[in-house]
Amino acid sequence: MNIITKSVIIFIMLFVNQTSFGIKSAETAAFAIEKRIDKLLAQMTLAEKIGQMYQFSYAKADMSAELAELVRSGKVGAFLAVTDVKLRNKLQKIAVKESRLGIPLIFGLDVIHGYRTIFPIPLGQSATWDLRLAEKAAAIAAKEARSEGIDWTFAPMIDIARDPRWGRIAEGFGEDPYLCSLMAQAKVRGFQGKNLSATDTIVACLKHYVAYGAAEAGRDYNSAEVSERTLRDIYMAPFRAGVKAAAATVMSSFNDIGGVPASGNRFILTDVLRGEWGFDGFVVSDYESIKEMINYGIAADEAQAGEKAILAGVDMEMASRCFLNNLARLVKDRQVPEKVIDEAVRRILRVKLRAGLFEHPYVDPNLAGSETLQNDSLQIAREMVRKSLVLLKNDGGLLPLRKDIPSIAVIGPLADNQRDLLGAWCGRGKAEDVVTLLKGIKNKVSSTCRIHYIKGCDIKDNSLGQFDAALNIADKSDVVIMAVGESADMSGEAHCRTSLDLPGVQRQLIKAIHKTGKPVIVVLFTGRPLTISWLYENIGAVLLAWHPGIQGGNGIADVLFGDYNPSGKLAVTFPRNVGQVPLYYNHKNSGRPPAASDPFTSKYIDCPWTPLLPFGYGLSYTAFEYSNLEIKPDKVRLGQPVSISVEVENKGTKAGEEVVQLYIRDLVASVARPVKELKGFEKIRLAAGQKRKVSFTLTAEQLKFYDIDMKFTVEPGVFKVWAGPSSIQGLEGTFEIF
Ligand code: NOJ
Repeated sequence: MNIITKSVIIFIMLFVNQTSFGIKSAETAAFAIEKRIDKLLAQMTLAEKIGQMYQFSYAKADMSAELAELVRSGKVGAFLAVTDVKLRNKLQKIAVKESRLGIPLIFGLDVIHGYRTIFPIPLGQSATWDLRLAEKAAAIAAKEARSEGIDWTFAPMIDIARDPRWGRIAEGFGEDPYLCSLMAQAKVRGFQGKNLSATDTIVACLKHYVAYGAAEAGRDYNSAEVSERTLRDIYMAPFRAGVKAAAATVMSSFNDIGGVPASGNRFILTDVLRGEWGFDGFVVSDYESIKEMINYGIAADEAQAGEKAILAGVDMEMASRCFLNNLARLVKDRQVPEKVIDEAVRRILRVKLRAGLFEHPYVDPNLAGSETLQNDSLQIAREMVRKSLVLLKNDGGLLPLRKDIPSIAVIGPLADNQRDLLGAWCGRGKAEDVVTLLKGIKNKVSSTCRIHYIKGCDIKDNSLGQFDAALNIADKSDVVIMAVGESADMSGEAHCRTSLDLPGVQRQLIKAIHKTGKPVIVVLFTGRPLTISWLYENIGAVLLAWHPGIQGGNGIADVLFGDYNPSGKLAVTFPRNVGQVPLYYNHKNSGRPPAASDPFTSKYIDCPWTPLLPFGYGLSYTAFEYSNLEIKPDKVRLGQPVSISVEVENKGTKAGEEVVQLYIRDLVASVARPVKELKGFEKIRLAAGQKRKVSFTLTAEQLKFYDIDMKFTVEPGVFKVWAGPSSIQGLEGTFEIF
């Protein structure tokens, strides 16, 4: 045996040993946790158990003697929205030192796209198609939040959204289950890290389980009418992925699914989440959603609502007190078995133990703030802004601008605006931290460049009062940058719209400036897809900036002036008009797919059926060319993988990044399959003139769907494949599974 073979064998032996040791120690730790829970459960009174199942919402309260007593007597297990570190420690001290069993509380907050360092809204983050960055942003948010006493975030929000009227589309990762699943996993990894009990990680919560984004008519809290197949294939997919990534908690949503509200839905919470996916963390109900089952008309009172929720599989109740006030009697009357309560408490204690709360229940108030807004974090935030920007149009290479351009007019209600760049759900973010677009431009241009600024109008107002002054500065400038869009409070929870147009007189303002004949660049700030056909047809360059967070101005200026070549791609379809929604790329073909020559096909008489901008779309300052699609083998036995490769060449003069996208279509199956489904992507960087082969492996697992018998399976047959720069472009091929 030569020396190389010997060392390989030793390495393998060591590796095998270490791995089995790793598995062993994880098993031992899990066993120790369960033992500890057994011991605690054996000592707990029924009232103390029920107390663990209640999350107190601090947003509506004050620290009072009554609250202290509630904690002391073990009647609270968790808090929502306690943002003062000292108060948090005070409450925790009562729980740990003064309650009978000393079980620590867990403190939760909505840390959605950053805690103090606010990153782009999630819909913008998904436009980066950069999982590493998405994970990093979550890790930064976790570190900042934990240092200020937040143990648990209600994120990632992974609701698939196909309707831009729904304000909460801003909070999620778009319309595609594959991209959303990978983003969900990246976020869970970022928040929870490798060690959930470390002092810089926090407990993640997959929400809102499930189909909350399917709210009818895009109206928040509304019913979701989805088939079980669509529920599983589309809406549940990211949750399944998040559970695989070991997310510790899940939130049951407000909506009903076919008449059964999520918080009282045993099928989704118990049969699927636990039975099929093996989830062993706990489920928290969304804010008062248990009590709201009375409004739904499926519970006569809070007691019945509580009974339905616990039997369905909710473990902790947020805000309302259906559990707290009724479970003891329900157990006594034998309507709820005590072992169901025990199981719920076991899950809650499991997460508290895994999160290390028993070992380090307090945070050091002297360190509060020490982790926030660190330089590295700001750099990552800026990187994420640049990468989230989607260049929608760039006629004649209007962008990038030269830094020594003699003069620029900056016009629009979002140009010198801090608050609205934060977006919805901005944690502990502060407007004063935001670099505005105007500031970002000033930071970037050379000292000789004259910048003229005017707001022009407010976001929502109807006054044309500043139009003349705006025209005046446009006239004396070489180029006009217009910052328009939605305010932060036009998206997010309970902020749905029936119009997707630019609000107020902003479009009129753009039209007036456009008439001057000056080159116009529009920077669009928004929490959702807007209807921008006019802009798209008439304006030279349009850059989509979402609500970009505190480094917004710097990141946008990086792109406007060419220090970064834009690479963002839409994770959501932009419709032409609101009458087209819901509109999404992975729709089914129908029996009468749209055909120009045949009026009796699936389309409109007053508008094309296609979107203005498709899923996956986004331009660059350079040009990428795709060639040599190879599919190997093109006939494969069921269960065997298929290798797909494509060559991508940067034909332009600038280095750039491209998101190479892989789509498939299952041509004949037992149920109608989407006309396209994203199955892979890779973000690559190519120097000018560089060419690279990008390879994907399609496994049987990736081709599975819920078949006619609702079995998750792959069926033999022919599959189409596309590799390209968006959901409507790409090289095409086929393979067959036999
Ligand atoms: C209600 C929202 O639907 C949910 O997303 C959030 O986490 C909770 N309120 C707590 O703030």
